[in-house]
Amino acid sequence: MKTISIAIDGPSGAGKSTISKTVAKELGFTYIDTGAMYRAVALYALTQGMDTKNTDGALALALDGVTIDLAYQDGAQRIYLNGSDVSEAIRTPKVSMGASDVATVPAVRLKLVELQRALAKRQNVIMDGRDIGTYVLPDADIKIYLTADVEDRAMRRFDELSAKGTEVSFDEVLEDMKKRDLNDSTRDFAPLRRAGDAALIDTTGASFAESVDKILAYIKKQL
Ligand code: DC
Repeated sequence: MKTISIAIDGPSGAGKSTISKTVAKELGFTYIDTGAMYRAVALYALTQGMDTKNTDGALALALDGVTIDLAYQDGAQRIYLNGSDVSEAIRTPKVSMGASDVATVPAVRLKLVELQRALAKRQNVIMDGRDIGTYVLPDADIKIYLTADVEDRAMRRFDELSAKGTEVSFDEVLEDMKKRDLNDSTRDFAPLRRAGDAALIDTTGASFAESVDKILAYIKKQL
């Protein structure tokens, strides 16, 4: 069976996951949040007491002991690390930064990319991440590069964290976001960049509903 793949890439906080989830529901596709996989590996490294900045060797060796599974509950993706549901535990600022660090380790990427490609082979997917259109699924049917100004993205992330009761200042969130942008786009292996054939959509100043409408209209036109 030929499956359809939609790749959505872009920097942190551009709205990729909320938009992808909504679009997936509308089209009846499976939403795959690849960032959650890097976050789960980071959580593993942190709980093992590893320094996520200098783990290449140690983490590559430890990877055989890491199992990551996805499951769907009421249409929402849940992620399991060695059998435990870590869907909420991976959403802290510490894990966000750790994920950006472990994502620079080639052995980590190769393991997760294999999983991502297998998922796309057996169903219609909308997959979001940093390297989906450039590396994971270079032949994806539709590619979108979603971005927004860094201040806008930091404000959205700050609002999300504040709503969850996480105590952070806007400046901290902005600094973290800039660091992650730099980390994600300058690593050697499969860095964040727009694929030549990806549509560029900028959501700066747009509401969630406006962004979803724009992307859905673009996808429906292409399908
Ligand atoms: O999308 P996110 O914020 O949950 O991703 C967390 C980190 O994982 C991000 O800073 C970079 C990394 N990542 C990646 O390198 N490649 C992907 N396909 C997805 C995420």
